[in-house]
Amino acid sequence: MLVGDKSYQTVWIEGSSVMMIDQNLLPFEFKIHECPTYWDTCMAITDMVVRGAGAIGAAAGYAMAQAFLTSTKKTKAITIREARADIEHTRPTAKNLFYAVDRVYQAGLISPENAMIEAQKVAIKDSQDSRSIGVFGSELIRKKANILTHCNAGWLAFVDYGTALAPIYLAMKQNKDVFVYVDETRPRNQGAKLTAWELNNNKVPHVIIPDNASATLMAQGKVDLVIVGADRIAANGDVANKIGTLEKAVLAKEFGVPFYVAAPLSTIDMECASGKDIPIETRSPDEVLYQMGIDANGNKLRVRVASPGSDAWNPAFDVTPAKYISGIITEKGIIKAHHRAIGRVMGAG
Ligand code: MRU
Repeated sequence: MLVGDKSYQTVWIEGSSVMMIDQNLLPFEFKIHECPTYWDTCMAITDMVVRGAGAIGAAAGYAMAQAFLTSTKKTKAITIREARADIEHTRPTAKNLFYAVDRVYQAGLISPENAMIEAQKVAIKDSQDSRSIGVFGSELIRKKANILTHCNAGWLAFVDYGTALAPIYLAMKQNKDVFVYVDETRPRNQGAKLTAWELNNNKVPHVIIPDNASATLMAQGKVDLVIVGADRIAANGDVANKIGTLEKAVLAKEFGVPFYVAAPLSTIDMECASGKDIPIETRSPDEVLYQMGIDANGNKLRVRVASPGSDAWNPAFDVTPAKYISGIITEKGIIKAHHRAIGRVMGAG
């Protein structure tokens, strides 16, 4: 995607360093973060310098390749196994991370160079899949549609294009004149900070709404379609996505608004029979108790926004049961959130 007049991907490799757009600094500062070692890449994933299912998948694949490239012959087996465990412990929910690590690990058993080639393939496929999701998803968008989205499943959350936002970008190119309601997405505000930045950047008309405003909007008939991303999809069609997604899905059903999930097949975990099997990450209470921003002079600030002395509970994701989902937009087409449809598309590879 273009930032100014330069084309960027969210994450890429330069020599043996993994490079990424620093998402913790956006929307106030655009800076590239360099990870010279697999451990630096792990830290960047844990600290959410890079975040979003596809982007952390690509970063994790590159981290696995970095580990292969730097291991010596003597320590190779143990180092690689430990590195794989380190990478897999960075963030537990997004299936793409485990999918990418496994692919690159298997390739690396042949040679370190092979690991890097595989990591590149994972990243390229992520970008291609997102592009296809945009094509299928745009068919759902009619002229002048009002679309609600939650969190950031745009190009920053993948290598390029995004999932939930890819259909919107294409609809804009098709002159469909869409409007986007952007949930702020507490506590880390991926909507208010990242989705809004992307949409501004791509000149897509939008407004940021408080997380608790969507019921009112839907009750007033102002939302035609909800599109969100996914971090892991179980074999029965249950979807883990950013905390708050479940509320939007229940509301959408109540108010008769189609609710779509956009995700590549690499997000589907056939080993999770249902959403109950999906591991849900709990993050630091500080993300709820403090907020990051800038003051009127552009100075960075971290301020407490909750009563001193109170603690917080901070689950990063929730699970939306399949019954609330109108369909899953994948790179192979739009499928029902149902075990038979999922089994069919996964079987077809
Ligand atoms: O915690 P994050 O920001 O890495 O969350 C992942 C997500 O970006 C969202 O859940 C998104 O909607 C899924 S699609 C990348």
